[in-house]
Amino acid sequence: MANEFKIETKKPDQYHHFLIVVQPAQSHINPARYLAYRLLSIIPSCHVTVSTSIWAHSRMFPSLSHPNQEITISQVSFVPFSDGYDAGFDPSIHDRAERRKRMKAIGPGSLSSIIDSLAERGRRVTCIIQALFLPWVFDIALERGVPSILFWIQPVQGLSIYYNYFNGYESIILSHSDDQEFEVSIPGLFPLKMNDFPSFLTITSHDHPHKIFVSMFREIFESLDLQKHVTGSKPKILINSFEALEEGVLPSMKNYFDLYTIGPLIQSSAKNEEEKSSDIFKMDDENKHMAWLDSKPERSVVYVSFGGLTTVSKKQLEQVQVGLKDSELPYIWVVRKNSRVEGLVLEENSSNGIIVEWCDQVKVLSHASIGCFVTHHGWNSTLESLMCGVPMVGIPQWSDQPTNAKMAREIGVGVRGEVSKEEGVVLGSEIKRCLEIVMSDDAKGSEMRQNAGMWKEKVREAMELGGSSETNLRAFVEAIAEEQK
Ligand code: UDX
Repeated sequence: MANEFKIETKKPDQYHHFLIVVQPAQSHINPARYLAYRLLSIIPSCHVTVSTSIWAHSRMFPSLSHPNQEITISQVSFVPFSDGYDAGFDPSIHDRAERRKRMKAIGPGSLSSIIDSLAERGRRVTCIIQALFLPWVFDIALERGVPSILFWIQPVQGLSIYYNYFNGYESIILSHSDDQEFEVSIPGLFPLKMNDFPSFLTITSHDHPHKIFVSMFREIFESLDLQKHVTGSKPKILINSFEALEEGVLPSMKNYFDLYTIGPLIQSSAKNEEEKSSDIFKMDDENKHMAWLDSKPERSVVYVSFGGLTTVSKKQLEQVQVGLKDSELPYIWVVRKNSRVEGLVLEENSSNGIIVEWCDQVKVLSHASIGCFVTHHGWNSTLESLMCGVPMVGIPQWSDQPTNAKMAREIGVGVRGEVSKEEGVVLGSEIKRCLEIVMSDDAKGSEMRQNAGMWKEKVREAMELGGSSETNLRAFVEAIAEEQK
């Protein structure tokens, strides 16, 4: 996609240095780094620094001479901070509550010293952008008198659900969490059943290991409230989504926040291979699977991936294998090394499919042979599928994924695999049924492909010069410049 908009702000000589702080997860780092490159496209004279944890930084840039080494790609600097887990956080060994505490104890000092050191080197930070779950970054911005911006890496629809949950809807949702047919209507959104809500919001047990995420989201909204109180104006939020997708919900949420939908911030925003490279995970030999895809007919292959964070149960993975095998469709399936559950046996060399540990997802989804994406509906994956015009079969696992799956159904580009009540997973037979719908040439399949093509076009329009996302990013930069007068 074109990335050619070189538009200086109204005050071309004004100094800008955006610091983007992001958690060590691929799905957080990806939009953050593409935001960095986009900012530079708009203000070629600005500085942008991306800071993630020391662990993630060393995975992204494996040949560092020391763990804190600054790396520069296309004028974007990458400088890591310590989150207290320099050797990595592993949810199967470490405790999330402890992590949150440790990050709050160690993160602020580490990030502050980075900001000081940048200033000493003539690169004073003028605006701090923080992705999810880093509300302590707001305090640092406040102390230093620079604007603090939340970067919401999920859709506005998700923002609205969380906002409304913490502002009146919590009790109605929790009191009906066992009634799967109960529907809740939130302003600007399609009615949501319980299994359409972000998974954390229907948890009633305080001992549930994911309940902590509710407090983490709550903290974000508390810091936005505080920000509003301190600055006397609506907090600005950058959102990795685009207007056409969020038309229904944007007006109501704009009552509370200044929202800038600037997405999709995905790999196509990158101008060269260097900008795309440096993932946390090691890529398989691309030549092999791309050549395999080249050998397949148009729209014949199923691409399967559950993203970079989720560990899918052994039982579910086995059922995915059954569904793929029984559907007799060619497939390419990403199974990360760190998600291979003990005892899982996969047919690595099936005549019909290939398994890879990590691939260039956007490149794969853009390949003409891909006909369907079996996805967990992580937000980046959902956006990438929309951008490539590929219809989806959803097997959401947790977090915002059920809501993203609902959105894909509402706009006619996806079907959701229903979880078997007895087995607690989406069975192979159900996956086969969904694949038949999406891959078929009958009316439903054709309609979904047509819709997917229409959304691909809407993504292109949003991102092109003068499109809503490009205009909104420019408006954001102007607003920040105005604040710094
Ligand atoms: C999770 C959530 O599900 C997501 O909605 C939330 O906003 C952030 O945390 P994750 O499970 O990793 O993220 O999924 P997703 O948001 O889809 O991100 C995965 C990223 O990894 C995508 O950008 C995808 O392109 C990339 N990827 C995945 C690859 O580059 N190669 C692969 O082989 C698989």
